[in-house]
Amino acid sequence: MSEKICKENKASKDDKKETENCCKVNLEAKDGGESDVPKVDIAVESDNTPSGPVLDTDIVKTRKCELKKIDWTGKLYLSPLTTVGNLPYRRLCKKWGADITCSEMAVATELLKASPQEWALIKRHESEDLFGVQLCGNNPYVMTKCTQLLEDQMTVDFVDINLGCPIEFIYKQGSGSGLLQRTNVLQSVVTCMNQVSSLPVTIKTRTGIHKDTNIIHNMMPKFKDWGASLITLHGRTREQRYTKQADWDYIEKCSQLCCPVPMFGNGDILSYEDYTESLKKSPSISGVMIGRGALIKPWIFQEIKEKKVFDISSSERFDVLKDYVNYGLEHWGSDTRGVETTRRFLLEWLSFLHRYIPVGILEASQKMNQRPPIYHGRDDMETLMASSNCSDWIKISEMLLGKIPTGFSFLPKHKANSWK
Ligand SMILES: Cc1cc2nc3c(=O)[nH]c(=O)nc-3n(C[C@H](O)[C@H](O)[C@H](O)COP(=O)(O)O)c2cc1C
Repeated sequence: MSEKICKENKASKDDKKETENCCKVNLEAKDGGESDVPKVDIAVESDNTPSGPVLDTDIVKTRKCELKKIDWTGKLYLSPLTTVGNLPYRRLCKKWGADITCSEMAVATELLKASPQEWALIKRHESEDLFGVQLCGNNPYVMTKCTQLLEDQMTVDFVDINLGCPIEFIYKQGSGSGLLQRTNVLQSVVTCMNQVSSLPVTIKTRTGIHKDTNIIHNMMPKFKDWGASLITLHGRTREQRYTKQADWDYIEKCSQLCCPVPMFGNGDILSYEDYTESLKKSPSISGVMIGRGALIKPWIFQEIKEKKVFDISSSERFDVLKDYVNYGLEHWGSDTRGVETTRRFLLEWLSFLHRYIPVGILEASQKMNQRPPIYHGRDDMETLMASSNCSDWIKISEMLLGKIPTGFSFLPKHKANSWK
């Protein structure tokens, strides 16, 4: 089915070769695969005319009206967050009021190879009632087959295309923000994914690639024509990474250009105040996505919904950590391996969480890129939780998960937790 759709959409021969290679690997990988990894029977699809009866799926194409409809309006969307946006963390954010959740970025070729690690990234918790899987790839066939597979094998509400990842090797492969420079391939990706399934296809992107040059407004009419169901725009270019402030005026311009396709704005929201300011600058967006703000204070969703600022005590924050650890042990297991996996991911999260400054200590509300002076908390625990020292994060992990094993060391994976 996906090959047929891609052929009709004239995806290039090179794209197809890549897919064939990937499918061969997949068959090898299947033998040693884990039981909860779906079998990927892609090898049955070939270039030859198929034999056997003609099925409905051979002749019936998905029409627009059959696409599943989602009402995105006014919803709070937790960003896809590689490493830290794991299932236990998303479960926590659901508890605090996130409406939409999305898996960490999964590499489409790895999913087709039936890689257990990659499939683990896209598991959904039952509390995630509006959940999407984010795919990263550079090839229409691979992305389309993956979408078909997700619809067949999983219960997922939408599929998101990563069109913003700035990481060098992803960019150089022409995936993530690299796909922004390959308009024809991108067109095939979006249109073929759209045709192969009834799942809404969404796009998450940045304002452009180079320095301060915003280009994505040129793409908005195209995204609309190609059938995107939602566009989320992080208001920075690839080269800006996290420097400068997200450009919410530009988000507004783009939102108007993609209308009536809904757009979500994304960048730097850390409080209810930031949320209202963003909406003031971008009144035509349908909703917002929150990333680091939710890592620093997962209760941000409830704050926004209740239009309040919460002054959370250190013991209440410790309870939030306890919840996370319990969810982690439930998800990764409570044996030694599960405990250590939970610890690693807890530490990754603490590398963001320590940036929270309790409201009672601040004169004005905390802003994303403003580094606070070193401060003493209102109690020892609050001071410990504010520490940017890895060894203090390890101490906190020991209060929750017991002593670290001998030879244990930890360095956070993400640079995005640092002050800009
Ligand atoms: C640790 C981390 C991991 C991220 N992983 C992803 C990802 O897998 N996919 C994606 O589209 N964006 C990813 N992002 C970008 C965020 O989704 C978001 O666009 C960005 O952080 C800006 O929003 P914020 O200012 O609310 O954090 C990641 C960001 C961070 C900080």
